[in-house]
Amino acid sequence: MRRFYSAVAWIIAGCVAVQAASIAFGLGGMAHYIQEGGVIDKALVESGEATFTGDLGFPIHGIVGGMVIPFAAVVLLLVAFFVKVRGARLWAAIVLGVVALQTTLGYSITDMPYLGLVHGANALAVFLAAVYAARRVSRSPALRTEAPSSSNAVTT
Ligand code: HEM
Repeated sequence: MRRFYSAVAWIIAGCVAVQAASIAFGLGGMAHYIQEGGVIDKALVESGEATFTGDLGFPIHGIVGGMVIPFAAVVLLLVAFFVKVRGARLWAAIVLGVVALQTTLGYSITDMPYLGLVHGANALAVFLAAVYAARRVSRSPALRTEAPSSSNAVTT
């Protein structure tokens, strides 16, 4: 279970890199398209027919950020209940909390562009919390729950 917990936390950390890469790919491609004379308006975006290098970055960002990462964060918290390491649940809850904030910010960016400042920075918090959760569980000794061995028993 500790390995699984650790693996899920590493997957979340890796997905943050995918998120940064995909949005840079999408926005870079969009800027290039406009510089080459292309025009992007609401109708084109909503038609889903915008075809430029990098357009795949937006759906990747939406799917990984709106589904894969939140799902993995919920799994991490569920698995944490079976991991006998102190703080495993706390750190899984912290990861889920910053992921929930990140997703909410992501869906609100188009209404309030200033939220993008927090969205970009909070991605770092998701990454750091996931890496910390993964490392501390794989390194800390499991909590001992069994009874003390007979060698510790008082003999008369
Ligand atoms: C934990 C990492 C991340 C998660 C979970 C996440 C999640 C999301 C979600 C759910 C959306 C809304 C997508 C939609 O409306 O279809 C979004 C949008 C956006 N995100 Fe992220 N994101 C993450 C990291 C980043 C990073 C590192 C950046 C850039 C530094 C970024 C920049 C943006 C931008 C510019 C948008 C608006 C464009 C769009 O809607 O596709 N995100 N994000």
